[in-house]
Amino acid sequence: MAANVPKVTISNGSQTMPLPVIGLGTAAHPQVTETTKSAILDAIETGYRHFDTAFIYGSEQPLGEAIAEAIKTGLIKSRDELFITSKLWCTFASPELVLPAIKTSLKNLQLDYLDLFLVHWPLKISGEVKRLPIPKEVIFPIDIKAVWEVMEECQNLGLTKAIGVSNFSTRRLDELLSLAKIPPSVNQVEMNPLWQQKDLREFCKAKGIHITAYSPLGSKGAKWGESESLEYKVLEEIAKAKGKTAAQVSLRWVYEQGVSFVPKSFNKDRMKQNLDIFDWSLTEEELNKISKLPQRRAVLPSMIMEPSDLVREIEAEI
Ligand code: A2P
Repeated sequence: MAANVPKVTISNGSQTMPLPVIGLGTAAHPQVTETTKSAILDAIETGYRHFDTAFIYGSEQPLGEAIAEAIKTGLIKSRDELFITSKLWCTFASPELVLPAIKTSLKNLQLDYLDLFLVHWPLKISGEVKRLPIPKEVIFPIDIKAVWEVMEECQNLGLTKAIGVSNFSTRRLDELLSLAKIPPSVNQVEMNPLWQQKDLREFCKAKGIHITAYSPLGSKGAKWGESESLEYKVLEEIAKAKGKTAAQVSLRWVYEQGVSFVPKSFNKDRMKQNLDIFDWSLTEEELNKISKLPQRRAVLPSMIMEPSDLVREIEAEI
């Protein structure tokens, strides 16, 4: 059964589309197909209808298998009940590779269309990713004008309902907005109480670009309940006072900022817990405490890419 998940409205340039505010993140290391598939089936059963994948996560295939099985067993009636996001990996961030890339993603997912297709990073990478962090020698600037034209073609061809970007700073968005016929509907970025993205959020609000938060729980840095650090203590204290968990307080804070969010959990109890944030709220005082937390900047870029001027720019600004 679909849970009572609020929806936000995003625009694809000509139409508006409803987006369930919470989606399931599917990036996992290592990615084990069977585990991912059964976790996604659990999520559909629990009420998730929005799924976030990417070519590079290796989760498109298990997500596609889970969707096919969910339709076959009657968990959902049709694919249209779901909102599916995937992303153009940096290796394919050249104009001649964008259409083949979305077609590969659709094939992996066993779908005719995506709901949202994002440029994964404002970067181009030459060759396959063989190790992490990705060596700086293979990281290059992206020709966003040429790539975006084909992203627009993907939408015009009906291969995706909307297009957007991920990990784009205000400078990159400004550049994109100046040349786009179809403006990006979404910018998906790292966002949580410890990296609140205030400037970027203000910019995107003014430009009508919706933000989706990835790592809304702080990703690998999060050790809820174990950490002695002051930042977590503040979240723990608020959680204790409300009979919630620190993870729920984080997600509720993210929700109250008007963005959508895609926490990853492959554990059914935690999936349920993460859905259980819509019938209570944070007080002014609690919101104030969280807004004053020290900020630690984005953690993901340096985890996956060697430092270079291009990567440092992303880390500092998104
Ligand atoms: P698991 O899949 O075992 O639940 P993020 O979305 O910020 O990247 O965070 C994902 C990490 O947080 C995963 O390791 C996930 O582990 C864990 N996680 C997800 N939901 C919760 C929760 N409610 N409480 C604690 N940890 C969680």
